Amino acid sequence: MMSSQMYQENVLDHYRHPRNKGALTRPDIKHSGQNPLCGDEIEIMAKLNGDVIKDVRFRGSGCAISQAAASMLTERIKGMALADVKRIERDDVVSMLGVPISATRMKCAMLGLVTMKHGILAHEGARVPKTTTEDVPGEGA
Ligand code: FES
Repeated sequence: MMSSQMYQENVLDHYRHPRNKGALTRPDIKHSGQNPLCGDEIEIMAKLNGDVIKDVRFRGSGCAISQAAASMLTERIKGMALADVKRIERDDVVSMLGVPISATRMKCAMLGLVTMKHGILAHEGARVPKTTTEDVPGEGA
């Protein structure tokens, strides 16, 4: 079990050295999302092998929580079936980060996951507008 200080250092490490940062050529999934509170935006791209995520990248900018959460998410979902990615929830993101997340910061933490899930829905044929985290409930909601 990691201590809270180790979690904090892990978040900072992902922020300073984001994993899977960048773009993919001809991605099967590509979606962008915005946190309306700050205007920060990220774009997530993925290449598929059937319904499994073969490769994933993200780019954009934002606070440490949003960038670390997106970085951790890409590591987690690489090699995962889309159906399983859709089952990842807020609690999973919070435990990946392992640091206290305030209601306001919850939108930062969820930006990557919500954008990725919307990207999957769009890939499956749904008409999905650009993601905003406006509908992400805060802590305790
Ligand atoms: Fe913008 Fe966190 S302050 S995503």
